[in-house]
Amino acid sequence: MTQVPEKSVDAINRNDHRFAVAPMMDWTDRHCRWFHRLLVPEALLFTEMVTSGAILHGDRARLLDFDPAEHPVVLQLGGAEPEAVAEAVRLAEPWGYDGYNLNCGCPSDRVQRGRFGAGLMREPERVRDVLAAMRSATAREVSVKCRIGVDDCEDEPFLERFVATCARSGVDTFIVHARKAWLAGLSPKENREKPPLRYDVVARLKQRHPELRIVLNGGLAGPDAVRAAMARVDGVMVGRAAYHDPGALPALVAAAHGRPAPVVDDGRVLAALAAYVEARRAEGVPAAAVLRHVLGLFRGRPGSRCWRRVLSERMREPDAGAALLHDAAGALAPARPEPSGRAGRGHATA
Ligand SMILES: Cc1cc2nc3c(=O)[nH]c(=O)nc-3n(C[C@H](O)[C@H](O)[C@H](O)COP(=O)(O)O)c2cc1C
Repeated sequence: MTQVPEKSVDAINRNDHRFAVAPMMDWTDRHCRWFHRLLVPEALLFTEMVTSGAILHGDRARLLDFDPAEHPVVLQLGGAEPEAVAEAVRLAEPWGYDGYNLNCGCPSDRVQRGRFGAGLMREPERVRDVLAAMRSATAREVSVKCRIGVDDCEDEPFLERFVATCARSGVDTFIVHARKAWLAGLSPKENREKPPLRYDVVARLKQRHPELRIVLNGGLAGPDAVRAAMARVDGVMVGRAAYHDPGALPALVAAAHGRPAPVVDDGRVLAALAAYVEARRAEGVPAAAVLRHVLGLFRGRPGSRCWRRVLSERMREPDAGAALLHDAAGALAPARPEPSGRAGRGHATA
């Protein structure tokens, strides 16, 4: 557990939101985040959503522990009761998260029953009060993640009212998944695919609110898309593309920062991964808990299918560890210079 230095509530830190990896339940756990951090030192990372109730009543060490290497990392909370969410923030403070984010974008049944997530967009005054309570509980940055609309509330005045009301809490960072959520009728997965992406709506929100930091999320998958988004908003958040193709992360982050894509040193990444897997095994964490997140690492490279297959077939064996990584990497072809359009996916083998 990392201790945070004392800070006045006025001295709110501002995280760099130019590039973030999205919060994803069951995916962006601490091992996944550690792995992403290995690839991209500057990206802002988010936890999976944790409900305020889980923090108040559950196993806090299991829910909140993370590796100091993961910084900067934001804890995403789900909740609708100002006092409960604020108390969850207070309880999480000793862990030293770099910020807290309120989930107003998740459409799952479980979340709807608990009256939080995307449904909260219909109650902007409540969200404002939750955010204000969170801010009073921490000097760390508080932000919101939302959709552009919910069900038939999808016109721009609806989004405008939500954002303007929430901003009265003093929160100035809005991460907007650029599609609405259909709470009745669509599964969470469909809700990430079916409602059309409306980047124009998010761009206009930024134009109306130059004073707010607006981060665009949804469907961003390559450096060109990231560069185009950065011309319209303050930052991007990438979810599925980052998870399924983590080797692309350095090029995506570089695009968000307006830099040329770096060359990734496979040897360094593999050695660090092997050491991490062994360190976790020594604590009783099975190798698969880490390795399930790295299956897509070499996506698009010759041998990547073999890498994935070797890991998938053997990572649950009791002795799976560093040697398995070595075997799986043996299937990969040596790195070749990439054609110019895909600069940054070049990997250098140490
Ligand atoms: C498996 C999975 C789990 C998710 N869990 C969360 C979550 O806990 N909190 C949240 O705000 N969004 C969650 N999301 C939504 C993502 O954060 C993101 O908004 C969405 O996937 C769109 O971004 P993308 O097109 O870059 O993936 C999840 C998405 C996926 C695929």
